Order: sequence, then C-alpha cells, then structure tokens
Amino acid sequence: MTSAKSQQLIFTNDIAQAIDSWAAKTLPSRIFIIADSNTARLCLPIISKNSLAVSSAEQIVIPAGEEHKTLDTLASIWDSLCTRGATRSAAVINLGGGVVTDMGGFAAATFKRGIRFINIPTTLLAAVDAAVGGKTGIDFNGLKNEIGAFCNAEAVIISTRFFSTLPQSEFLSGYAEMLKHSLLSGNDAYARLTEKSPAEFSEQELLELLKESVLVKKRIVEEDPTEKGLRKALNLGHTPGHAFESWALANGKPVPHGYAVAWGLVVDLVLSHLKLGFSSDSLRNVTSLVENTYGRLLFDCKDYPQLIDYMRHDKKNAGDGTIAFTLLRKPGDVDVSCTATPEEISTALDIFRDLLHI
Ligand code: GLY
Repeated sequence: MTSAKSQQLIFTNDIAQAIDSWAAKTLPSRIFIIADSNTARLCLPIISKNSLAVSSAEQIVIPAGEEHKTLDTLASIWDSLCTRGATRSAAVINLGGGVVTDMGGFAAATFKRGIRFINIPTTLLAAVDAAVGGKTGIDFNGLKNEIGAFCNAEAVIISTRFFSTLPQSEFLSGYAEMLKHSLLSGNDAYARLTEKSPAEFSEQELLELLKESVLVKKRIVEEDPTEKGLRKALNLGHTPGHAFESWALANGKPVPHGYAVAWGLVVDLVLSHLKLGFSSDSLRNVTSLVENTYGRLLFDCKDYPQLIDYMRHDKKNAGDGTIAFTLLRKPGDVDVSCTATPEEISTALDIFRDLLHI
C-alpha cells in the first residue's frame, strides 16, 4: 500500500486556507473529519470557523488517548464511514496527535480498499514524526503498532497553531525528535535548533525549524519507505529510549516518550563514541542540553539487566539474539546496522550515569 508518490507537505499557519485549496483541487465527494475528544473541542473550532470544507465536513469523534488505539475504536470508525454511506470518492481529514493520524490513516487506507486522507497534526510530536512518512496502524495484543500498513497521507498540513495549548512535557517530547533529526542531518541543523531554549522560539521561528526537521524525515522516508535500510536511521535514540520508557512504566514512574528518547539519544551517542569514534565534545554538548531540558532518570547498575532485557525484546532486532542500534560516526554520518553486546551496553549505561551525574 506504499504510495510511490512523494507526500505533499504544506507548512503554514493558515490551515483553513490550505484545507480549502486541497479540497478545491481534489474535489472529494464528501469529507469526514476524524478527531479525538480533545482535538474536536480545542482544535476543530479554530479551523472550521474559516474553512468551508471543514465546516461542511462530517465528524467522527473518537476517545482520546493511546489506550483507545485499538481494534474496537478502529471498527467504530469503519462503522461510521459505512453507515453514513462513504464511497471511494470520499476523503478523510485526520485532526490530532499520533494516535489519530495513525489510526485514522489506517481506517482510510483499509476502508473499501483505501480512500484518500490528509493529516493535520495538532502536537509537535505528531507534526515532526507520526503524521509524516506513511506509517499507519493500531496497537494489538498489548503491543504498540502491531497491526498496520504503510500508506501515505495525500498531504500533511503542518502548523504551529495548536502548540500553545500543549502541556510542556508534550511539547518537549516533539523537541526530542527534532533533536534526533538535527543530529541525523549534521552540525548546522543541530546548532540552529539549540541556539535558544525551545520555549524561546517564536511561532514563525518554530515553523521554520519544524520544516527543516520534517524535511530530514521526508528525505529518508522517500529513499526507504518501508524501513529496509536507511529509514532505520530514524531509530536513533530509540533502542535505549524504548527500554527507559518500558522500565519507567513497569516501575510505577512513567515518563513521556520524548524524554525517554532524549535520554536514549545520549546512550546511543555514548555507544557511538565507543564504537565509531563520535567526538567526546559533541557527546558532552548533547548531554548537557538533554540534562538541562529533560532532567535525569534515576536508576543504578542493579537495573541494567532489566533495561538490557527490554532492549533485547525490541521489535527492531533481527531475532538472532543481537541487539540492534542506529549510531553516528559524527552528526550527519549514520550507521544503521550496528549491534552491541550486553557488556558494551552496561559500559555505555555507566558512562551515561557519570555524564548525567546519576
Ligand atoms: N518514527 C520513525 C519512522 O517513522 O520511521
């Protein structure tokens, strides 16, 4: 279901105009707008006031939260489309964070073998990651994104319009993925992104940085849409990041995804230093930024076996018992096919704790 076509990305704070011009160009017979209970209340009124297409669209509102990214909610979306008589000439607008864009995208990709959809991400994290690149799906059997398909949104309308109401932790989660993209891109992108603290950027400056960041992902995804090789670059920070996230949850002190990714970036850069010669100056620079922005996760060496066990069960591993990592030789120079032994990971965790004064 991967579209060979490149995905249209529209960066604007005039969202209503962007939607109306997309609708005028593509002429869907009907438009269904999928929102969750939060975005239906907070975001939909902002755009429906000025957009003809949105004010006449039919709404499908789903409950908010990752716990609803399920087969039941997906079935309720299919059911709404079905009972309201949607045909293949209809189109869907997904208005929300990653749960809405992933699940709404999958609902559209599978309804009547596929109807068109566009994404309007309402969180920084969705704008910089989930809404772009064609991954759609739901959680299943307790596993995240276990069922899904690669299917590009016809367009993604990206704005900073909705971010002022985001909780800070949600905003910083998106910023962690922007840090990742800047490290994948090179020193200049990293310097621009870290020139000020994230809250100091104006809406317009943030939109420019967001554009630069999303284009890093777009270039990678266009080269490798189904993650056979280069797209694994986007996993930088995520092997240890997912382990931190799972470990923190299991120990009753959950942390936001992006915080775990930020700490995971530091672990991956320590491994990059040990295995690929990533410079210690760059490592120290990223570490102090991460410590100042995200604080610290408290754990000690007794927790290593559990953390390494989470890394061993990561779905990105080859299944031969090795633990896969994406590492950097230097900013902009990525190796997507690294592995590390439990001993090497333990050493990296020791250095991580030293660097972050844990
Ligand atoms: N979130 C990483 C990717 O889209 O591949």
